[in-house]
This record gives sequence, C-alpha cells and structure tokens, in this order.
Amino acid sequence: MAIFNFDDSQAIGTVFSVDTATVIIKVQELEKLRKLHVNQLVAIRSAKAGQHLIGLINRITRKASDEENPVESDLGLSGFLFTENILKVNLIGTLLDRHGLKENVFKRNLDTVPEIEAQCFPIDGENITKFMTTISSHENYKVPLTVGKYSIDEQAQAFLDGDKLFQRHAVIVGSTGSGKSWCVAKLIEQIAQLPMANCILFDIHGEYSGKDFKMDGLQHLRVANPSDLGKTGNLENDVLMLPYWLLTYEEMLAMLLDRSDSNAPNQAMLFSKTVFAEKMKYLDEIGDTTFKSSITIDSPIPYKIDNILKELAELDLQMVEGARTEKQGPFFGKLTRFVQRLEAKTQDKRLGFLFQISDDELDINWLNKLCERLMLGTSSNPKKAGVKVIDFSEVPSDVLPLVIGLVARLVFTVQQWTVRENQHPIALLCDEAHLYIPERTNQDAAAELGLKSFERIAKEGRKYGVSLTVISQRPAEVNRTVLSQCNNFIALRLSNAEDQAVIKRLLPDNLSGLTDVLPILDIGEALVVGDASLLPTRIIIDEPIIKPESATVKFWKEWSADTSKQDIATAVSGLRKQSKS
Ligand SMILES: Nc1ncnc2c1ncn2[C@@H]1O[C@H](COP(=O)(O)OP(=O)(O)O)[C@@H](O)[C@H]1O
Ligand SMILES: [Mg+2]
Repeated sequence: MAIFNFDDSQAIGTVFSVDTATVIIKVQELEKLRKLHVNQLVAIRSAKAGQHLIGLINRITRKASDEENPVESDLGLSGFLFTENILKVNLIGTLLDRHGLKENVFKRNLDTVPEIEAQCFPIDGENITKFMTTISSHENYKVPLTVGKYSIDEQAQAFLDGDKLFQRHAVIVGSTGSGKSWCVAKLIEQIAQLPMANCILFDIHGEYSGKDFKMDGLQHLRVANPSDLGKTGNLENDVLMLPYWLLTYEEMLAMLLDRSDSNAPNQAMLFSKTVFAEKMKYLDEIGDTTFKSSITIDSPIPYKIDNILKELAELDLQMVEGARTEKQGPFFGKLTRFVQRLEAKTQDKRLGFLFQISDDELDINWLNKLCERLMLGTSSNPKKAGVKVIDFSEVPSDVLPLVIGLVARLVFTVQQWTVRENQHPIALLCDEAHLYIPERTNQDAAAELGLKSFERIAKEGRKYGVSLTVISQRPAEVNRTVLSQCNNFIALRLSNAEDQAVIKRLLPDNLSGLTDVLPILDIGEALVVGDASLLPTRIIIDEPIIKPESATVKFWKEWSADTSKQDIATAVSGLRKQSKS
C-alpha cells in the first residue's frame, strides 16, 4: 500500500516555478503557511503516477498585505515582489509507491521534475512516521549501519550505508564537547563487530585508550615512550617503534636540516650520499640480491644512523694533503651544525621510538612485521584485523604530523602494492585532524610532508580501498583539499561562524541551507548529509556502549567535592620520564 494518499484539500499550495532541484510553491491561505516551518519535509505530486517528489522547506515568506507598510529590508530576497505567500523547497529525492517488486521506495535521485501547478503536501503527523519507517527500512541499505535516530521522528532508526560512508570518505565535526568522540565510539563499536573489519583510529589524547573503551574486535596499540626503549619484543606487546629508516629522505631532512644555514645544500647532499651508501652496505651484509638494483634513497631499507653520524662528523673535521702542509678538507666545518642536530635528535628520548631502536627493528623483515601488525590481526587470529586504536598521546606535538603521516603512508603504500584481488579495505579514522591535516603548515617542512600522505589518500584512497574519516573541532583549520574529497558529513553543533562557513561550502548548493541549524544542535545531535544517508537531516546520536574517556571536565562539580585526587609527584616524575606509565 502506498504510504501517501493525499487528499486535494490537504494541499498547502501549488508549484509556481522550478529551477533544477529548487521549487517555489505558492500558498493561497495564510493559515496553512503559518503551520509550516523551515526544514520541514513536503511531498510534491509528480507528473508520473505513483510518485512523489520529496523536498525540504528552505524558506517561508509571507506576502506583504495591503494594510501593512511595505517591507523595508527584504531579507535578501531582492527582486522578489511580495505579492504571494511563498515557500522555497529543495528537492531531495523521490518516493515511489512501487519499484519493481518493492513498495514504497525512497530514492535520492530526481527522475522527474514537478510540473507547474502540481500540488504540494506537508509531511506531518502520521505521514512523518510512515515516511520515516520507509526511509529506515533495512532494504534501503546494503550494509546497514546506524548512528542514531531521526530528530523529526525518534521512533525511526537512522541507518547509513556502510559502503558509501567509507567509499567516499567522511567528516565528523563539532565544537569541543558536542559529541564527536561519542559518535566515533558509536561507529567503532559497530565496525568492531564485523568479522573482517579493518580500521585504524588515531587517538591523539589517549581518549580511546582508557579502561572503558574495550570490546572484542578492538585492539590497542601505542607509540613507544622513553620507558619502552631498549626493550625487546615491543611490537609483540603492542608498543610501536617507528624507526627512522622508514622515513623518506625528504622527511629526514625536514627534521634535521636548517634550510637557513648557508651550508644546507652541502649538508643535504652529503647526508643523502652517506645514507644511500649505508643502505647498500646493509644489503651487502645480508647478502641481498633482490633489492640492490632497484633501491632509491627513499627505499625503506635499514641503515645505521650511528654510522651516518660518525661519517659526517669525520668529514666535518677532515684534513687533506695540501701542497706543503695538511689543509682543511672540502667540507671542513660545513657540517658542524647538521651533526649537532642529528646527534641531538638521536639522543632525544622523546624521539626514542624513531631513533633509539634495537637490533630487532634494524632487521629488513621488521617492516613486514610492523605492517602485519597494523593491517592484519594478531598471531592468534591473523586474518581478523579488527579495529586498532593507536595511542599517539606521548608523541611530541612537533613531530606528530610526520609520525601519523608515516603510519598513514605505510598503510596506503602497502595497499597500493597489493594486487587488487587481495586488497582488503581499510579505514583510517583521524581524530583531532586539524593537528596533523592542517590547512596551513606555517612553512613547517615536516608537517607539510605528513599532510601530503593524507592528501594522497584523500585523492586516491578510494581506488585502493583506503578510506579517511576526518574528525575535528575546527574544520576551518583542516586542510581544504582533504575536506573537499569527503562526501559524507556528520556535523554536530558548531558554534564558530568560520567553521560553519566551511561546512556550508562543502555541502551541495541545494542543501547548504541546512547548515543554519549547526549552532543550535543539541549535544549528541548531528546534521547528517551525504552519499551514505538517504535523508539529509538531523540525527540524535545513540549513546555508545563503549565510552571514550571524556575530555569534558566538570569544574564546578570537582570543586564542590571533599577531596582532590591531584598527584603532583607522579606528574613531575612523568614529566621527567616523558611517559605517563
Ligand atoms: N550522543 C550523545 N548522547 C548523550 N550525551 C552525549 C552524546 N554525545 C556526547 N554526549 C555528552 O557530551 C560529552 C562530550 O562528548 P565528546 O564526544 O567527548 O565530545 P567531543 O569529542 O566533541 O569533544 C560526553 O561526555 C557526554 O556526556
Ligand atoms: Mg573528542
């Protein structure tokens, strides 16, 4: 049975003009106009029998009556004569009474456009429930995934198409405390239940690494801190070392080279020469015959950083035979600053996960182990990758973009070099993305390179089954190139006008009016728009079972308590050790 059986008397008005997906409805009776509100759903009778076009009211204007003074400010509606009561409606899809064997099917496309004078009906009362039930029928979604319920009808579960959500990348934004992390948790807990899920969540503040964020199918990894250094079996204990030899030449230089130094070109040249020679030496030592002919300076081949340091230090002090006496070598004194920087970096305990690696991590096969740990399961269940939360909270913020970029790049390149039939799709969830996928990098070369990895994934990831979900409280500070590749938006409350404007620009023209609700959304309520959702509308996000450690501190409540748990001694000791454990 068709869900809509409108009677002519229920019509609120008729189509006055049509412009692609925007329709102007003329409303005769002021009484009817009064009952309508912006963002309400309406149905317009289609020229084809058994079809209704569904739209969202975008603007309501009342005609200026003769008795009243003419409207002075025209609300930006210049050119419009206020001679009619007018509704502006954005069409969002078509409801078919019958589609093949199925009844009541809602489709996102507009097969037909409404005819002039076609009748328009409000979708309210029980029609809302009927319509929302149709929308939330499982059959509309190949792989149902839900984040919550529709705000307009709290009985109706809002499903998302799990394929489309990840195929075309997603964005989750909202001011701090609006409910992003809970929304991520809600997604994660469903992903983790899939038997062959494969997803990595970059956890910047350790929010998802707490004791409550645990379930089957969810694993926790963390980047090594100073107290993990020098230990063996770190990887087996879910502690990640990310050795310097995985970095490209550019990435190493970004960290080591001071480009304002007049000797920078010499330093870069000699560094590249020695690194390449050391990589070749390593391959000789292990008797390699496969890689030697094809490696480049960027190839992930282990080499000993100590040897580089020694060699460069020697060149810096080198004396050569002169005509009469010894004279200074060609690079004498030109490498001093570079050697100092390199030495400082290699000894910096905070960067120990990069530089202070053990023999385990100097093995050529260690890269396989690392990638297996990142992209496959555990030894007990190797095929089930599941969801991995990687805790980056102890990584110094200045190298964070470089380090996360490295992990993302590893995943992407491994996927790229996997034959298509064997590519198992993987999603990267990037919390606090403005920190490492920034719009402006302020000339910071290392951050720039980290960003490049994400730009590539945003642009090409889809082809290789790598998906990005960008999560941020400051969309205005997140890289536009990356954001513009995202086709799904879960926008929670956004109070900053600049951030709202960014989201508005990213939405299709006919839906950008929806962003008006961004500042007035409730906590945990989101505007969900995109390929993955049938209806662009507000959704009240369900409370997740597993909860992130809330970053929302209750000042007044804590101050009203009898005691305080502040422990300075542990904090100071942690500060010295650069580790929370
Ligand atoms: N869907 C929701 N339903 C109810 N309360 C929520 C919801 N989402 C968030 N909250 C509340 O808001 C707080 C902050 O949410 P959180 O996800 O940490 O925000 P954000 O990550 O955006 O800063 C949570 O601790 C919780 O109390
Ligand atoms: Mg958060």
